[in-house]
Amino acid sequence: MARRKIIAGNWKMNMTPTEAVALVNTLKPLVVNDDVDVVFCVPAIDIIPAMEAAKGSNIAIGAENLYFEDKGAYTGEISPAMLVDAGVKYVITGHSERREYFAETDETVNKKVLKAFAHGLTPIICCGETLTQREQGITIDWIRQQIKIAFLNVTEEQAKKAVIAYEPIWAIGTGKVATTEQAEEVCAAIRACIGELYGAETAEEIRIQYGGSVSASSAPELFAQPDIDGGLVGGASLKPDFGKIVNYNK
Ligand code: 13P
Repeated sequence: MARRKIIAGNWKMNMTPTEAVALVNTLKPLVVNDDVDVVFCVPAIDIIPAMEAAKGSNIAIGAENLYFEDKGAYTGEISPAMLVDAGVKYVITGHSERREYFAETDETVNKKVLKAFAHGLTPIICCGETLTQREQGITIDWIRQQIKIAFLNVTEEQAKKAVIAYEPIWAIGTGKVATTEQAEEVCAAIRACIGELYGAETAEEIRIQYGGSVSASSAPELFAQPDIDGGLVGGASLKPDFGKIVNYNK
């Protein structure tokens, strides 16, 4: 069974609600590709207007974060039930920017992953190494640890539905895309790690994205790799270029 590609935009902290509607309307006709699941992960305040603007299209609206408690005194946080009620299907967890600026750890990422699944949301679980770690030759060890902790207590059925995004930190927002070989090597190692944890069937089904300076020119070769099932796209997801990335195989 061939895995279906999944190409997601991560808008990060960009686009006011008004701008979000305009961007969805601009991109709607450009991101049509029957071979691909298309997701726009948008700031929380943009979810409802973006969802409205995306109605009737192939675009699924995702969130960039969630909190790992159901409700209560957590000022400023967004609960899984809030996302579900708004119609969200996907949620990014453990993006490196959240780890760096908002003190996310492998443990909080695991809690968020479990909570997302408990509410029927599909987590897009981010992992990635720093340039120092790559130069030290510990990339695969590091990523395996991130994956193992993120998947603690995740069931096999849930793991099959998860999406993993491999995003080398040195490639994010730098214009320095990983080589196809580097990206494929790590994505294959992630799949092997999932195989060790859950068996071959889960490893075969789980979808693994590459992220980090993906562009219309780098997407076709990256997404053609056997273990790369699409991308998580930052900067280029805010531009008409995202249409070319989604149509990487046309
Ligand atoms: P860029 O595509 O802007 O490098 O961002 C990648 C990313 O962090 C997606 O989550």
